[in-house]
Amino acid sequence: MEKITKTSTGQLTESRRKFIEKAGSGAVLALFGAAFFTSCSTTDDPDPNQPNNPGNDNGISVAGNTIRIDLGIQSGLNSDGSWLLIPEAQTLVANVGGGFIALTSVCTHSACDRNWTYSSEEFTCTCHNSKFDTNGNVLRGPATQPLTQFSTSVSGDTLSITK
Ligand code: FES
Repeated sequence: MEKITKTSTGQLTESRRKFIEKAGSGAVLALFGAAFFTSCSTTDDPDPNQPNNPGNDNGISVAGNTIRIDLGIQSGLNSDGSWLLIPEAQTLVANVGGGFIALTSVCTHSACDRNWTYSSEEFTCTCHNSKFDTNGNVLRGPATQPLTQFSTSVSGDTLSITK
């Protein structure tokens, strides 16, 4: 917690400052509970499912316009209906009936690129709830333009996406 030693109207005495710090900490704990702080610390941890985290071999590499996914490591993607958001590459990937599709994750409405859900072969940008099918076509606005689709190919255990 940031220590407050000055206000806009002047300096606090040391005892007053300590009282406010203690009262403030107690109030925050009472409002949010210890889980608030626990959950904050876990979001700072590297996400092992995201590429380019040092020391993590998550099976995803991004080089220029090419994304490679090791399906042996990202084995969850082998199931119909599974999907991934790769933020560093601004890419959505889904397994649709055993094949793979890839779309830009940059929503055509207002360019949100990280707030996606996927269900029943529909992507939803939760920024304003636009929906897209697996070809990127708009199913529901406010977006009016489709998502760009990327090409995919599989060789052995490697899924390649070319933007
Ligand atoms: S940015 Fe996606 S719906 Fe608005």
